[in-house]
Amino acid sequence: MKLFKKPIFVSISPNAQADDVWLALKLIFCPWRWKEGKCVGKFEKMLEDYLDDNVKIPPSPPLQKGGGGDLDFKKGKGVVLFESGRTALYAILQALGVSRGDEVLVQAFTCTAAVNPILWVGAKPVYVDVIDGEYNMSPDDLRKKITPRCRAIIMQYTFGFPAQIDKILGIAKQNNLFVIEDCAHSLGAEYNNQKLGTFGDAAIFSFGRSKVISAVFGGAAFSKNPELARKIREIQQKWQYPSCRWILQQLFHPIYLAIAKPLYNFLNIGKIMIILGKKLGLISVMVYSVEKSGGKPPFGPAKMPNALACLGINQAKKLEKFNEHRREVVGVYKQKLISLLERGDVKIPPNPPLQKGGGKSDNLQKEGGSIFLNFPIQVKNFGIRWKLIGEAKKRGIFLESWPAKDKKVVGPDNVNLEKLYYQESSCPNAERAAQTSINLPTSPNTSVRDAERVIGFLKEYFINK
Ligand SMILES: Cc1ncc(COP(=O)(O)O)c(C=O)c1O
Repeated sequence: MKLFKKPIFVSISPNAQADDVWLALKLIFCPWRWKEGKCVGKFEKMLEDYLDDNVKIPPSPPLQKGGGGDLDFKKGKGVVLFESGRTALYAILQALGVSRGDEVLVQAFTCTAAVNPILWVGAKPVYVDVIDGEYNMSPDDLRKKITPRCRAIIMQYTFGFPAQIDKILGIAKQNNLFVIEDCAHSLGAEYNNQKLGTFGDAAIFSFGRSKVISAVFGGAAFSKNPELARKIREIQQKWQYPSCRWILQQLFHPIYLAIAKPLYNFLNIGKIMIILGKKLGLISVMVYSVEKSGGKPPFGPAKMPNALACLGINQAKKLEKFNEHRREVVGVYKQKLISLLERGDVKIPPNPPLQKGGGKSDNLQKEGGSIFLNFPIQVKNFGIRWKLIGEAKKRGIFLESWPAKDKKVVGPDNVNLEKLYYQESSCPNAERAAQTSINLPTSPNTSVRDAERVIGFLKEYFINK
């Protein structure tokens, strides 16, 4: 491995650019802006305007006496910000009245962060399989898994691919179930010219470090139903801001990673820095170990602090550019992977159907509204995946498997599936995908040349193996 060759990452701080690092540095020196400030209301309004683009949101009801309202509420009617997407989901489930004895349908091939909030309200997750060769919920399996105790469906858009929305909404209606869209991977993606997040009763978004845009940590709940939005707001208002120490830890993250990433390959200095940084608490981990068996993370539930909203706004301004870039990189993968597809070495997800009504960009239209947070390929078995990721690493290409390296259908690694109520073999397609899929990078920091390097490696691996 060449010492100075630029490392290519899928998810290590993939969106942070010089202006984001600079902003984080400035915010570190303004502690009075960490918790309260104007950015939260501004970010809420920005997201709401973006989602409201083609959906008319009914006007909010008058603010109620004694609670539920402050200035932010008037500014951002349907969007409510939290310190993470998992907390946004927790608030939505509470606002919908989901509680002990209820069940919530959620797809396998997901993250604990999408499942734990179900446990936190005392309900039980029921896992639905994904469509074979794809990454989103199978409507056929959904029908089979519904029980009289089910109250809601979490409709996930894995890697920014729209799910079979019409079918899932139809099933929800027939069975009187709430639909919560999990848009943690899909800010900006569309279905029939309508933004994902605007189809169900409510939606969550994540601004975690490896999401579409990043505030290191952060999440939003959205509902176009004013009554539900008001309830979510009331719940959020009862929660505090995270501690100053936690906020500082998040602000330090892009700065620390900006130093560690270029040194990742250089005598492993960067890698050691990241491991040490996490161990010493200089930077945060994405999922805390208590969460791997259903517990709550130490920082929440909490509101989004102002400093993280400032980071979120800076990234949100670049959202369209980021997503267009992701589609361009995927165009390179699709074009250059053809020989490996023909040989049967790898599989890629099928092209989603063309959108109705014409998308806003040609590429968005062509790609069926997807935004490709990552680009997943599937290889023939777990052994090949394991070897391939190892060989790539030697060349400074850090490919990843999501949701977990260890084949589990709920990630990250070492999750206790029993505690999360997953029954082995209950979702065979998801289990296969969890063993054989590999994510190729698409992030704003992945250049077209990087994508070509990834393809070059894959061809070398499969053709010379
Ligand atoms: C599918 C999915 N849903 C929800 C979440 C929760 O997001 P957050 O990390 O902001 O809590 C994540 C992220 O980890 C996710 O991958």
